[in-house]
Amino acid sequence: MQIIWIHGFPLNAQVFDPQNAIKGAEHEMPNLPGFGDGRQVTIQGIGDYAKFILDCSPKEAIFAGLSMGGYICFAIARMAPERVRGLILIDTRETADTPEARKGRYETIDKVEKEGIKPVVDSMLPKMVLSESLKPKVRAIMESCSKEGVMTALKAMAERPDSSELLARINAPTLIVVGEKDPITPPADAERMKSAMPNASLLKIPDAAHLSNMERPDLFNSAVEQFLSRHHF
Ligand code: MLT
Repeated sequence: MQIIWIHGFPLNAQVFDPQNAIKGAEHEMPNLPGFGDGRQVTIQGIGDYAKFILDCSPKEAIFAGLSMGGYICFAIARMAPERVRGLILIDTRETADTPEARKGRYETIDKVEKEGIKPVVDSMLPKMVLSESLKPKVRAIMESCSKEGVMTALKAMAERPDSSELLARINAPTLIVVGEKDPITPPADAERMKSAMPNASLLKIPDAAHLSNMERPDLFNSAVEQFLSRHHF
């Protein structure tokens, strides 16, 4: 079985480097358009990222989404449920942006237009990881994102639909993971998703912020290996 790892914002696939060590599955780690490789693909909304991922995925797979990658997983589950054998939802949430959050995204788009991506990197880096030693790598990953990619993703996230109603219809085995100290999508989001999903388990990772897979790969990877063997993937 393949796991398609879908990175978050503003990041690229290198955020999943530690997950290459996971045994029991093949790993595909594409960069989304505008993140890390300069590929030009027209993105109008979150559904276009989902189409991009489906186009480079096998007929059936486990989709693993980190934060914005989770929003893309919900779009995939809505668009092509028959292709979803399993889900790994990492530091993400099912709800749409609140009106205030949406307004903030558009203000950030204006800022990025004028000043480039540096203000976004500077404000988000402290929320990504707790560990000082990981910050240079995370900063480099964030700085690889293009201005256009960042602006496009901000708009796509601002306009994404609410996926609350979808959760009860996702019967595929699902592993939800959250960093206990994630300030962006805190544990309450993960707990709400777990209670709404019929076939989900939840792991809370201590001493981790938003990038829990990167900060505690020991705990994260063994939870994924157990998930794979429990569900006979
Ligand atoms: C992400 O990590 O993908 C973003 O923080 C998600 C968001 O801004 O909603």
